Amino acid sequence: YESTVPDELGDPAVRGAEVPEPGAVTIVVPTFNESGNVRELLRRITESVPGRLPCEVVFVDDSTDDTPEVISKVAQDCPFPVTVLHRDEPVGGLGGAVVEGMKAATSDWIVVMDGDLQHPPSLVPELVATGERAAAGLVVASRYIKGGSRAGLAGSYRVAVSRAATWLTKSLFPRRLHGISDPMSGFFAIRRSAVTAAILQPLGYKILLELAVRSRPRQVTEVPFVFQDRFAGESKSTAWEGLRFLRHLAGLRTASPVARMVAFGLIGATGFVPNLLGLYALTALGIHYLPAEILANQLGVAWNFCLVEHLLFRERRRHRARWDRVGRFALLANADLVLRIPLIALLVGQFGMGVLPATALALVTTFVLRFAGTEALVYLP
Ligand code: GDD
Ligand code: MN
Repeated sequence: YESTVPDELGDPAVRGAEVPEPGAVTIVVPTFNESGNVRELLRRITESVPGRLPCEVVFVDDSTDDTPEVISKVAQDCPFPVTVLHRDEPVGGLGGAVVEGMKAATSDWIVVMDGDLQHPPSLVPELVATGERAAAGLVVASRYIKGGSRAGLAGSYRVAVSRAATWLTKSLFPRRLHGISDPMSGFFAIRRSAVTAAILQPLGYKILLELAVRSRPRQVTEVPFVFQDRFAGESKSTAWEGLRFLRHLAGLRTASPVARMVAFGLIGATGFVPNLLGLYALTALGIHYLPAEILANQLGVAWNFCLVEHLLFRERRRHRARWDRVGRFALLANADLVLRIPLIALLVGQFGMGVLPATALALVTTFVLRFAGTEALVYLP
């Protein structure tokens, strides 16, 4: 065994020659200030895993406390390799940490579990054995099938939030999450060969969801488990984490161009609200309605820009500077407005269309053009 803190993530070779044999498991544990838990966690893993399954443990740590030091100390008495990857730049939060750990894994199987003992280590061998038996790519430890429960989910408020989030998520991805009763679980086993690390865009807590939707492991099964109480310390989840989850959902749901266009249209429709409110306020101030229209339209544009930036093209923002994106977006939005009237005039005058169908056609045309322009000119693919 050993306990090192390599400079480079992602290269198992950094950690020397002690590579577990095939059929073994790499347990990936994300930790954020869990110094009160890691000793007990390693003790229980030692108790229930290496006797049945060769294993190694990879901690991916974003702590500001002494968690990595405690791990390194305890690791010296562990009969399996223990690694701590401490991140100075904790991108992607919990999910980002898990992906780093997966990249460093060397075994055929990867089990992801929390560091606070809400996930019983005694279940690790069973998760892997079930996966082998069913020739599965993914085995989810579920709270929502017979034999499972969420005993450790404190408070009816958290239970309600958890249930609503599960329902929303399952309705958004009915096919990808077919056969997964607990897509929010943070406890699962996945075959290393089923992990497509390069296409993952983890964002916060729901790393299983990310893997199920983007990596699409072929065969999925579940094993029930009882979600325990935290051993020490407190949950690291916050209201901010809830917002991050919604952004994660939006990103996953709009991975295809068609879904993106629909979302773009829905966002555009919500822009009517600030637009009309602005128009109302400006005309109430005594401004003539024509300049008021133009100004109010900019309010709608600004609103749309914010939503599009954060929900639709989060990953593609970096290609251009912010002021550049603002300028291009505003230009496209206003060109839409300016082009529509002559286009309607053309359709009515030259092609003899009725005013209503001409307007509908012009609306659709300028919408598609604006979407295509936003995709290609504001946010490069
Ligand atoms: N490296 C790293 N970076 N680890 C983190 C971070 C982070 O930003 N945030 C949290 N963790 C670690 C914690 O230290 C802990 O080991 C584990 O991730 C889970 O964090 P908790 O804060 O204990 O999560 P929870 O109990 O509220 O939520 C758990 O249960 C939910 C189901 O109710 C998680 O497993 C969720 O994924 C799960 O949906
Ligand atoms: Mn927890």
